[in-house]
Amino acid sequence: MDERIVSGESQSHEEWEERSLRPQTLSQYIGQKAVKENLTVFIQAAKMREECLDHVLLYGPPGLGKTTLSMIIANEMGVNLRTTSGPAIERPGDLAAVLSGLEPGDVLFIDEIHRLNRSVEEVLYPAMEDYFLDIVIGKGPSARSVRLDLPPFTLVGATTRAGMLSAPLRDRFGVVSRLEYYTHDELQEIVERTADVMEISAEKKAAEEISRRSRGTPRIANRILRRVRDFAQVRGDGTIDLSITKEALNLLQVDQLGLDHIDHTLLRNIIDKFRGGPVGLDTIAATIGEESHTIEDVYEPYLLQIGFLQRTPRGRMVTPLVYEHFNMEVPKR
Ligand code: ADE
Repeated sequence: MDERIVSGESQSHEEWEERSLRPQTLSQYIGQKAVKENLTVFIQAAKMREECLDHVLLYGPPGLGKTTLSMIIANEMGVNLRTTSGPAIERPGDLAAVLSGLEPGDVLFIDEIHRLNRSVEEVLYPAMEDYFLDIVIGKGPSARSVRLDLPPFTLVGATTRAGMLSAPLRDRFGVVSRLEYYTHDELQEIVERTADVMEISAEKKAAEEISRRSRGTPRIANRILRRVRDFAQVRGDGTIDLSITKEALNLLQVDQLGLDHIDHTLLRNIIDKFRGGPVGLDTIAATIGEESHTIEDVYEPYLLQIGFLQRTPRGRMVTPLVYEHFNMEVPKR
C-alpha cells in the first residue's frame, strides 16, 4: 500500500514509531469487535463486486484507533491511502486538488472531519455521491462552473464529535461506526503485542498494570509502555517488570485509575473552587488553563465513562466517586 499525507502536518519521530507499530490487517487488530466484524463483511463484499468500499465515518474519543482503521481499510482493499485533515483543507480548491489526485479505489482519510468549513463541505457532497466536482472558474458575470469527473474512491472520515457534523455530510456515509473504550483485557493484549513488535520483554503483570492505567486507550497504553521501557533501560536491566512499571507510572503522575495531572487538576478545581459543581465548561477551562474543546474531547469523555463527572443543564458536576478517589469526605448537599 502506498501511503502519503496529501495535505497537513508532518509527523514527529514518536508519531512515526507509533504508526510503524500499528496492526496492518483486521485480523491483527485487537478489540472493537462490532466495528471489526462489520468492516470485514463490507470489505469482502466490495472486493467480490470489484467495487470500492462505501464511505466510512469513524467516531469516538481520541486514541482509540480511527487512523489505524483507515490504514487497515486501504491495506485490506489493496489500494492507496491518502491522508489529510479538516483544518488542513481551508478552501474548496484545496479539496479539489486532493480529490483530483486520487486513483481509482483510493482511500482518502480526512481526520477531524467536523472541522471542514461549509464551502469545502459543499464540494465534497457531489464528490461523495456521484464522483464529480463542480469547480467555479472566474469571478462575477463571466464566472462559469466546470464539471470534473473523479475516479470512484472511499472517504474515511474521523471525528471525536459526530454531533458537530452537519446532517447532509453525515448522511452521505454508508457506514457509520462508533469506537468504544477498550477493556483491560484488550489493552493488555495490545500492550503485549506492541512489546513483541518492539522486541522488548514485558512481564505479564507489568502489561496488566499498564493496561489498567491507560484509560481504555491504546495510544496511552503504548505511550506508557515506551516511557516504562526508558525507565527499565536506565534504572533496571531493560526488563519491564511490575516494580519498575509502578515506579515509572508514579513518576509520570499516572494514578491507579490512569488519571493524570490534568485530570486531577480539573477534578480538584471543581471541588475546591466550585463546591463540586455544577460549573460551566468554559469556566473550568479558564481556571485550569486548558482549551474548552480539549477538555471536552480529550479529558471529559473518560471521566464521564467511569462515572466521575456528570453533565447537567447547569454545567459539570463531580460525583461522590471522586471524593472517595481522593480520600475526601463526601459533602452533604
Ligand atoms: N495498537 C494500537 N491499537 C491496536 C489495536 N486495536 N490492536 C492491535 N494493536 C494496536
